[in-house]
Amino acid sequence: PADTHYDGEGRITVGGVALADIADQYGTPTYVLDEGEVRARCRAYRTRFPDAEIIYAGKALLTRAVAEWITDEGLSLDVCSAGELTVALSSWTDPARIVLHGNGKPFAELETAINCGVGRIVVDSLTEITLLSALANRPQRVLLRVTPDIDVHGHPALRTGVTDQKFGFPIGGQSVFEAVERILGQPNLEFAGLHCHIGSQIYDTFPYGEAVRRMVAEMARIRDGFGVTLTDLDLGGGHAVAYRGGDAEMNLAELSDIIEDSLDAACARHGFPRPRIALEPGRAIVARAGVTLYRVLSVKHVENGHTYVTVDGGMSDNPRVALYGAHYDAVVVNRHPTGPEMTATIAGRYCEAGDILARDVRLPADLRPGEVLAMPCTGAYHHSLASSYNGVGRPPIIAVRDGSARELVRRETIDDLMCRDIGH
Ligand code: LLP
Repeated sequence: PADTHYDGEGRITVGGVALADIADQYGTPTYVLDEGEVRARCRAYRTRFPDAEIIYAGKALLTRAVAEWITDEGLSLDVCSAGELTVALSSWTDPARIVLHGNGKPFAELETAINCGVGRIVVDSLTEITLLSALANRPQRVLLRVTPDIDVHGHPALRTGVTDQKFGFPIGGQSVFEAVERILGQPNLEFAGLHCHIGSQIYDTFPYGEAVRRMVAEMARIRDGFGVTLTDLDLGGGHAVAYRGGDAEMNLAELSDIIEDSLDAACARHGFPRPRIALEPGRAIVARAGVTLYRVLSVKHVENGHTYVTVDGGMSDNPRVALYGAHYDAVVVNRHPTGPEMTATIAGRYCEAGDILARDVRLPADLRPGEVLAMPCTGAYHHSLASSYNGVGRPPIIAVRDGSARELVRRETIDDLMCRDIGH
């Protein structure tokens, strides 16, 4: 991987800490998170988008420490459940800077969100609009989620901009007007603006320019229909990161330019005052700050087939390969690879043939059981998507910074798993 650093002894370090030492101290599998990298990505967004609000999508990875770092760097936070909200509030995130999302928000969770004073709620159904107003005891700011009818490349499970799907109201249609009418008719709702999220792992800037043009046109249509001028436009997240060397990545400078240019043009065209822009990156903030450490359990050369390197983790700590066909790279942590190499498939330990972590990875030909592999770019949607499949507890998260390591989330033990099973 491009950003791998070897120390004088040929060991890989992240945040000034040798990954081999983390594996020895905390065991494997383990998620390692580079605090400096998370903060640097937050700053990159703040610098590139000085006029926009950057709302970190907590679904990518949320722990109390992560919430603190992103708050400290001036970001707001997007949560999509009472659980994420609780993590955020327990790390003193200002509720006013929290945005609540979801196409199906359970009654109790809406109540919790309103009671703790979340700044904005993105509404996604007519039922929710009425319910919210009934629950709110002071004006609650809301955004309306709209699908801008933009189909981006990428995995079908991540394409959220198209019309026929569970999220949002189709742009330009009658149902948006019904929702607007419903919001405006509620005494306790303050209608701040529109929201869209066109998909995830998008490296093209063009769809974002298109989203801006369409969403501003929709805001103008709402102004013309109802006489209200919305002030906020939230463009969602979805900015791609490079999982492996050579992969494409979203260029933030270009993204900023296209959003600005499209905004200027669309606002001029519709005579619409410039809205406040918000962006909701999740993956782009944390993905590349994460590395997962695995210990090699066996190396098996299958006759007339592949070489399988089985490690002590797999689909429960990284379901992204099975879910989205994602690709990863891996590297040995304790020696600079100089000798002969082999091409191997890295297999997980779980009882499914599909439990593969990476295919066609170049590894030292003499790789031995007991050696530690690092899989880069595993900071987003790994810990948050992890399960305890096959009765294996979830890995810990170890933060590294300025040469020292500390535990943010401890390993899930068998006792943790047992304590929910209350028996007969
Ligand atoms: N805003 C909304 C409303 C979203 O639904 C999402 C992601 C984001 C922002 C952040 O998207 P990001 O910048 O992280 O791409 N589990 C999948 C990704 C699911 C994304 C769901 N929504 C994966 O591992 O690729």
